[in-house]
Formats: sequence, structure tokens, C-alpha cells
Amino acid sequence: MEEIKTPIHVAIIMDGNGRWAKENNLPRNAGHRKGTKTLETIIKHANQIGIQYLTVYAFSTENWNRPQNEVDGLIKLFRKYLDEHIKKAPREEIRFNAIGDIFSPNIPKELREKILHLQEITKDKKGLCFNMAFNYGGRDEIIRACKNIASDIKLKHIDCEMINEDLFSQYLDTGHQPDPDLMIRTSGEIRTSNFLPWQLTYSEFYFTTCLWPEFTIEEFNLAIDEYKRRKRRFGKSE
Ligand code: IPE
Ligand code: IPE
Ligand code: MG
Repeated sequence: MEEIKTPIHVAIIMDGNGRWAKENNLPRNAGHRKGTKTLETIIKHANQIGIQYLTVYAFSTENWNRPQNEVDGLIKLFRKYLDEHIKKAPREEIRFNAIGDIFSPNIPKELREKILHLQEITKDKKGLCFNMAFNYGGRDEIIRACKNIASDIKLKHIDCEMINEDLFSQYLDTGHQPDPDLMIRTSGEIRTSNFLPWQLTYSEFYFTTCLWPEFTIEEFNLAIDEYKRRKRRFGKSE
């Protein structure tokens, strides 16, 4: 019988912070703050159960269209996360990796420097690889990959005939990482909202109505259990 495996790579669309805040008569940014706590819990748990890659959608290229006060609040939370983890890094096992266009002029310079610093000081960590998608858009990622391929062809580092699915994947922000096995979205929305369009082609999807600030280790384990029951075929007949 086929061995039932824990997923190697889990991706999460952490949605529902705003609705949770509204239900609790709180400002939206309070929902985002509570959502960060959930994220810390899930990262720790994923590392403990041996998941190797966790990719979370924290801020999309479309989220710049939210009110300035909310955007500022989200950037502030990200900065706080970076500051805390830069401090804790020597005692932590997690490898931090940002995906998305962090070199965009929309990203404040000091935030970019903190992102690069946390990446640098955790790059040899042996635990979970934690990908934080910030200023991430799947279409934007594909366009940036195409531009980098075109530039490498111009510089004669590669030639056109070398382009195949493997090479293309390496130009994406997720580079040499395996594609997600499981994608979880909270809050009841059944869509991917520009998250990892290339990488999710054969992932198993799990949708829950639970709002992200209320998501727990138990809810996460339910998704993993459901994943283990799925039969993945990858186009084959068995
Ligand atoms: C997800 O929660 C966090 C981000 C998109 C930054 P939302 O803020 O989208 O929460 P809802 O969907 O409005 O409830
Ligand atoms: C997706 O959630 C982005 C993040 C979770 C960061 P949204 O709340 O922005 O997505 P839509 O607008 O409901 O599709
Ligand atoms: Mg939302």
C-alpha cells in the first residue's frame, strides 16, 4: 500500500481578519494583529510536525488598494515581526524567506533592509523554510521571471532552447523549492486571489469557513488529515 505522507510544502491564504474584527466590534487592524498571533502559532506547529516549507499570503499586490491606514498597519505589523525575529534568530530553527516584489519602490527602504537581514541571518537554519508572501502577486511574479529570463538571454547566460518548466520554475520567487502539496484558505472564500498560480497547478485545495484570527492547530491538523485522505493522480489513470 502507498505510504500516507505529511505534506512537504503547505501554502496558506490567511483570510478573514477584517470580518473577525467586524464581528468583534474592533478596527480592522486589530484583526490583522490577532492574525499575526495565529501565524506565529502555526509556524511553530508546522515546524514541529516536520513540514519543510510553509508559504503564507500576507499582502498581495492588490492589497495596496486598501485605505492608507490599513496598509500602514499591515506594514507596521510586518516590521514588528521582522524586528522580533531578528532579535530571536540565534535561538530559532526557522529559515525566513520573503517572496513577492520586495524591490518595488512601494516597499520602504528600511523594511527591505530588515527583510534581507532576516533572510541572511537565517539562511543556514535547518528547520522549516517559512516563505512570507509580501507585495506578492502571481501574475507579477511570472512577469518578473520572464523579464529576468529575457535579460539572461541577452547577457548570453542562457539561450532560448534551454527554457522548459524546470528552468522557468527556478526564475520564480520560490526558486528551487518543491510546489505546495496542500493549499489552505480560511474565511470561506473559494478562490486563489493571484496566489502562486504556477506552483499550485497540482496542489490539493482545502477551504474552511474559519476566519484566520480564529484558526488553530486543531484546524490545521484537520486540513492535514484531509490531505492524507486525498488521492493525487497528476494526470495518471491510477
Ligand atoms: C486577510 O484578511 C489579510 C489581508 C488580506 C492582508 P482580510 O483583511 O482580507 O479580511 P477580510 O477578508 O476583509 O475579512
Ligand atoms: C488575499 O486575500 C490576500 C491575502 C490573504 C494577503 P484578499 O482578502 O485580499 O482577497 P480577495 O480580495 O477576497 O480576493
Ligand atoms: Mg480578505
